[in-house]
Amino acid sequence: MKDLTPNRQDLDPIEIASIDEIRSLQLERLKWSVRHAYDNVPMYKARFDEAGVHPDDLQSLSDLAKFPFTYKNDLRDHYPFGLFAVPREQIIRLHASSGTTGKPTVVGYTKTDIDNWADLVARSLRASGLRRGDMIHNAYGYGLFTGGLGAHYGIERLGATVVPMSGGQTEKQVGLITDFKPDGIMVTPSYMLNILEQYRKVGLDPRQSSLSVGVFGAEPWTDAMRKEVEQAFDMHAVDIYGLSEIMGPGVANECVETKDGPVIWEDHFLPEIIDPVTGEVLPDGEMGELVFTTLTKEGLPMIRYRTRDLTRLLPGTARSMRRMEKITGRSDDMMILRGVNVFPSQIEEQVMATGGIAPHYQIELYKSGRMDAMRVFVEAMPDAADELSKTAAARMLTKRIKDIVGVSTEIIVGNPGDVERSQGKAKRVVDNRDKE
Ligand code: DLL
Repeated sequence: MKDLTPNRQDLDPIEIASIDEIRSLQLERLKWSVRHAYDNVPMYKARFDEAGVHPDDLQSLSDLAKFPFTYKNDLRDHYPFGLFAVPREQIIRLHASSGTTGKPTVVGYTKTDIDNWADLVARSLRASGLRRGDMIHNAYGYGLFTGGLGAHYGIERLGATVVPMSGGQTEKQVGLITDFKPDGIMVTPSYMLNILEQYRKVGLDPRQSSLSVGVFGAEPWTDAMRKEVEQAFDMHAVDIYGLSEIMGPGVANECVETKDGPVIWEDHFLPEIIDPVTGEVLPDGEMGELVFTTLTKEGLPMIRYRTRDLTRLLPGTARSMRRMEKITGRSDDMMILRGVNVFPSQIEEQVMATGGIAPHYQIELYKSGRMDAMRVFVEAMPDAADELSKTAAARMLTKRIKDIVGVSTEIIVGNPGDVERSQGKAKRVVDNRDKE
């Protein structure tokens, strides 16, 4: 793989500024953001008043802990535009998440917000090893989802050529990559596996593709998956993190030279890690729920937004700003099986480590008597799809999950193509617990 470490003079100076400089910029911006929310969003005014806190109480960054949290449900309760801090006419773009239940959550951006977002995605791409003049194939979905358009504007801002492919049409994706020869690809990691499969189906060697970097995010993925994709395509795989409520893709991005967890762009977002049960702020290095406060957002300021993502904060390495550990899961995705907490990513690691099976998987939760139980659907690699190999693979994976994760599972090894394929974010867990 090529060394794609960016030149230091191409970075934004704040990325490598002193910690003191970063903290002082954060405090100045935090004061503005909390005041902006209080003055312009009735919900924040009511919440702060009720909690007995006022924007003037913010004298240091740690004072933020006195302020109440904001939850996804707050967006639903104020659907569609009730948390906007500027008149609707100043909002130049809306996005929305479909949400599995109830109303979608709607987010809005002013012109300045869109500008900052493009800058941060461009910064993220630079961190990923891409640069002005490169060509980037964008397979994140375009539309209400923030992935497609968020990436698009960042690619243009970087000064690269964007191929606005969007998700789906896997055959066409491979055709365009082969013909246009892009340097980078932006896509969910699970959909990248479909693209890989298509390469193999048409007899193309993915290692001969022009791609030198993949910028993968929008869903959790393991280091085992990183290795799989890096080896298959002979390219770098880096992690891009973000969420619509805070901005979209590009809240944090991994550096290609270290690949040690996404760097949080702390000049625009202030992270905290809290104990998800007590709400207490935890010191850097401890695992907990990630909470973000936006520092510059005009349209939809978010004060102490509970992401439900579980991670920890780590000191800066390639940049001065702090990193987050690659997300292992969301508190919503945690399964409890006979008292053992299990995340889909732990199953993914074992699927990746088992020979003879493809990297596609889906977990079904069901009731066995009064207990929750788990079934894992995987599929045989095309060259190991005979019954004998499938039985051996099932036995091996069952044992690995039992020994390493600590839970008993039923493993079903299907034929190539049996596991549902994702077009964007993969659905890793199907919950049938109320169906039996
Ligand atoms: O998924 C934004 C995005 C688009 C990020 C494209 C990266 C690339 P939402 O649809 O609002 O926004 O979903 C946000 O997805 O809270 C995480 O649970 C999960 N997520 C996003 N990026 C990562 C990642 C976009 N790199 C939710 N690793 C977040 C793990 C991720 N989970």
